[in-house]
Amino acid sequence: MTASSIATAAYIVASLLFILSLAGLSKHETAKNGVVFGISGMVIALLATINLAVQNAEAVAIVLLLVALAIGGAIGIWRARIVEMTGMPELIALLHSFVGLAAVLVGWNGYLEHQYFPLESLENIHNAEVFIGVFIGAVTFTGSIVANLKLSAKISSAPLVLPGKNYINVGALVLFVILTIWFVASPALWLLILVTIVALALGWHLVASIGGGDMPVVVSMLNSYSGWAAAAAGFLLNNDLLIVTGALVGSSGAYLSYIMCKAMNRSFISVIAGGFGIAASGGEDTDYGEHREITAEDTAELLKNATSVIITPGYGMAVAQAQYPVADLTRKLRERGVEVRFGIHPVAGRLPGHMNVLLAEAKVPYDIVLEMDEINDDFASTSVVLVIGANDTVNPAASEDPSSPIAGMPVLHVWEAENVIVFKRSMAAGYAGVQNPLFFRDNSQMLFGDAKDRVEDILKAL
Ligand code: TAP
Repeated sequence: MTASSIATAAYIVASLLFILSLAGLSKHETAKNGVVFGISGMVIALLATINLAVQNAEAVAIVLLLVALAIGGAIGIWRARIVEMTGMPELIALLHSFVGLAAVLVGWNGYLEHQYFPLESLENIHNAEVFIGVFIGAVTFTGSIVANLKLSAKISSAPLVLPGKNYINVGALVLFVILTIWFVASPALWLLILVTIVALALGWHLVASIGGGDMPVVVSMLNSYSGWAAAAAGFLLNNDLLIVTGALVGSSGAYLSYIMCKAMNRSFISVIAGGFGIAASGGEDTDYGEHREITAEDTAELLKNATSVIITPGYGMAVAQAQYPVADLTRKLRERGVEVRFGIHPVAGRLPGHMNVLLAEAKVPYDIVLEMDEINDDFASTSVVLVIGANDTVNPAASEDPSSPIAGMPVLHVWEAENVIVFKRSMAAGYAGVQNPLFFRDNSQMLFGDAKDRVEDILKAL
């Protein structure tokens, strides 16, 4: 069997494993298997590719390949080990930028390495692939870098508002189409240089114009772009696995962006057009009255007498690493016969599924962890809701105040419960920078302090 037929067979197996991986990752129960399938697919793909290279290459190339593998692998393992769960989105954004850069380099290489094409039409297709690959790759590259800088707070998360910003974006796309046709007709170097510069600037501008609140959608959008960039590189390199994997990443990223837009009640176009995430204008001066405070001991008392409790965790639970005492509290209350369930907002925390991962880590049973739509009607018949480090995702202004910057975003209706206890350290706003009238409701009380410390205090009091 030749190395190339071994590679073809291995690529088919790897593609199937990637599909199984995606299917596995869609449910709690099967997520671990999904990860194992993904890793296995990647190992098979890498081994087959190395084998292919070793068969055709000289010694220098093999050494270079191994050195690149060792350096990349070492950096990857190091980063993955030290990254905090809260820093995942920015790390993912950075990884997308590598895919983008790789697509640009593959495209440039495809242009510089003159190939022989028996037919002119094949050469035209090749030129179009080069041009499109470089364009998508360069947009992904700078866009992902800006997303990384915004998410890690190295630059302001406020949207950049250049005059006529939508015209700039649309103009760049129209220019790209014209340049592509031109390049296919006469593939001159300056056209490739020009499209690279235009795409780098477009990627930068596109993401810089989008505000912090929309960054989750941007990250998954860039995920999708990086997939299409990889698929474009696959066409150039004649690599089926890269085409299949790129298409899987591209379409799943696009679908995830769609789900997130739906969860925030925003249209994809309005996200790309930017603007959301600017500090609230009108509503900020509203006087909501006084808030009330409660102690951990009184909260314990309330919980003892409750029949049903819903816990709605948010970003603050992740920061405080409060999932372990929260799991203990859940166990204790259930032993006392209290019904305890969790209500998870689709964009709670800082990445899709963030809360589910933390709760699974702390061994909270899956069957009491419910999605927003499954639990939203039950708040009205609930004795106590514990809002643990959540803010935007439980903000009644989203459904009640049409002038709020987050108006229309579906939220957890915690305020309908008999008692709401909000765990946070201050009266500060959440991620979207919007004041939360929940804190001033008659049935709400604030339990100030680090969420982990406060839950532990409640455990002691129980
Ligand atoms: P946020 O609105 O981000 O609010 C988190 C709250 O946790 C803050 O108000 C903060 O108040 C509190 N907090 C922080 N550290 C704490 C600690 N150690 N102990 C106790 N409380 C602490 O949270 P959310 O409700 O989860 O909403 C998520 C937001 O992030 C949404 O706007 C969403 O659009 C956005 N976003 C989501 C994602 C995804 S995909 N999930 C990705 C990026 C952004 P104090 O400072 O007063 O303590």
